[in-house]
Amino acid sequence: MKIPFSFDFPRPGFVLLLSAAIVAMTSCSSAGDGSVQSPDGDVRLMFGLDAEGCPSYSVDVDGKPFIRRSPLGFGLEVFRAGSAEPETVDAQKGFELVSVDRGSEDYVWEQPWGENKEVKCRSNAMTVRLTSASGVDMTLFFKVFDDGIGFRYDLSCDGADSLRVTDEHSSFMFASDGDSWSIPADFNTYELDYRKMPLSELHDANTPMTFRTSDGIYGSVHEAALKDYPEMTLLAVPDETSPQGFVSSLAPWPDGVKARFAADSFTTPWRTVQIGRKAVDLINSSLILNLNEPCAIADTDWIKPMKYVGVWWGMHTGIQTWKMGPRHGATTENALKHIDFAAENNIQGVVFEGWNAGWESWGGMQNFDFTRAYPDFDMDKVASYAKSRGVELIGHHETGANIPNYERQLEQAYAWTEAKGMHYVKTGYAGGIPGGHPRHGQYAVRHYRKVVETAAAHKVCLDVHEPIKETGIRRTYPNMMTLEGAKGMEWNAWSKGNPPSHYVTLPFTRLLSGPMDYTPGVFDVLLESSMSDPRREKWNDLDQGDSRVNTTLAAQIADWVVLYSPLQMASDLIENYQGHPAFQFFRDFDADCDWSEALDGEPGEFVVVARRAGDRYFLGAITGDSPRTVDVPLDFLADGVKYRAVIYADGPDADWRTNPCSYVISEKTVTSDDVLNVVMASGGGQAVTFIPAS
Ligand code: NOJ
Ligand code: CA
Repeated sequence: MKIPFSFDFPRPGFVLLLSAAIVAMTSCSSAGDGSVQSPDGDVRLMFGLDAEGCPSYSVDVDGKPFIRRSPLGFGLEVFRAGSAEPETVDAQKGFELVSVDRGSEDYVWEQPWGENKEVKCRSNAMTVRLTSASGVDMTLFFKVFDDGIGFRYDLSCDGADSLRVTDEHSSFMFASDGDSWSIPADFNTYELDYRKMPLSELHDANTPMTFRTSDGIYGSVHEAALKDYPEMTLLAVPDETSPQGFVSSLAPWPDGVKARFAADSFTTPWRTVQIGRKAVDLINSSLILNLNEPCAIADTDWIKPMKYVGVWWGMHTGIQTWKMGPRHGATTENALKHIDFAAENNIQGVVFEGWNAGWESWGGMQNFDFTRAYPDFDMDKVASYAKSRGVELIGHHETGANIPNYERQLEQAYAWTEAKGMHYVKTGYAGGIPGGHPRHGQYAVRHYRKVVETAAAHKVCLDVHEPIKETGIRRTYPNMMTLEGAKGMEWNAWSKGNPPSHYVTLPFTRLLSGPMDYTPGVFDVLLESSMSDPRREKWNDLDQGDSRVNTTLAAQIADWVVLYSPLQMASDLIENYQGHPAFQFFRDFDADCDWSEALDGEPGEFVVVARRAGDRYFLGAITGDSPRTVDVPLDFLADGVKYRAVIYADGPDADWRTNPCSYVISEKTVTSDDVLNVVMASGGGQAVTFIPAS
């Protein structure tokens, strides 16, 4: 039912009671006051429609403004039958209210794997239907959780043949300034350094963009359920009410159009703001997953987290090559050696990069072949040996971002992978997409989704490098297991590398979106074995011969716990693990956890995380440049159980710059009543296994 007039919310603090007339006319809806609050009552979202019919929202936390009046809407081009030229529609004004409906949800759902197997979903919802004289109907879905808010749009235009989005005006006008942590907005890469800067000085950012307001509230802007739409980045739009305002900036098609639909309607991803009292609340939030569709795969028994090693680091440090030749890494002999190592060390998977034809064309035509092994890699022999030793092979598809070449082979490639008995594939998109498409635009989003669906049809799990950012689609497609999507370990092999602050920023930023395949665990922190290897050749322009890992060894171990990935790699050369006492941690570690909690931390400074897998618990703590001591109450352990705690700590003289490999392993018996005193060196960390004492 249409309401034939608009109503105005004055600004700022623009909430008005809807008039009795409106309440009466929306008989099928309960209009209330145009606001909806979280189940615990602390977060309140208010919808507004001003005299010009411009829709907006604002958010209060604890009764104080958190997000001020923030415009919503789109720039659209509407194509109608029989008309060559599109009609331009300013879909951010001229709307009238049709109805306001309310609802709520409160349930627990289970996932086949994840930081937590059980996830609680509790929110209140408000659906606002708008119409306009231009023929555009807009429905806004708002959901308010205890840990943040989300909203998405459904747009439809009767009689349209197709629609184009030329701009999205969703905005986030923060009420106060504060610190923020983010990478710059870039439509082609997420492999960028994090910056800490005042919100008011941020010009643009990719999401998750995390911040702490001057009132001490933590927040992070991101998106959920990104499907058939470009990614959203943030662009600063200061105005008189909020010098800390941002508007959505979408990755465009090569012609500048942001999104195109061969239909008369479309639905956007959710725009999200996670909200917490403590920084770790953001990590412990399931808001992104809760805004995704339930699992679309009926039988998920084949989707299993695991630990893995592989032929990988040697190529990055320059001692081996991906392409076939005298220094080729992925040979049959090397593969068998890695399978043996995995089988002997309680590691379930092995990846071999450079197994397939096409690496000669990397950096050129990028014509990889995903079903043809190099002659010195006997695929069938490797596959049957892996099977005999109970080890999973992880296939590798470096596409060089040649999406047309990959899509031509996609169905055949995954059918072949399945036929060879492989259940995992790592993909990569190192290169530019032909045709000038940015890597994060709608064209690429469609491609990444097609790969996930094709892989699912062939029971293959994915580890995507150079991905489109994770937005929680792992709930719908749990075979989408892990992604890179930030500077990973590889940067430490051939550039000045990732600083200690990177590791303690990732959990509060990139990892809020989902798991990350950082590939931690390099024990030869100074890369001595590679640097002294006569086979080493520089292959990357950023390599100045002084690359190293910028943390301590103990921090690398702790990263296996802190940097969540259901496929967790021990990324060093296996020779560097052989006989190393500290590798016992990885042998004992279980990537298939049941429960997780971030216990303490601050972005860019430190973080402490605990996880449980079966009856074992694992603790990981890492710090940035500053040495740090943290008291960790062990009250997360099961009551009344004695645990043998094996502690992998920085040595007393450890320092990431000067003495990174000094570590100490100690043991003690603990219970949930104890408090662990965790001492960490500069760039250091600590990892602990808790095994029930028999
Ligand atoms: C980039 C990926 O992040 C890395 O893991 C891989 O080794 C290279 N591309 C080559 O595929
Ligand atoms: Ca990469």
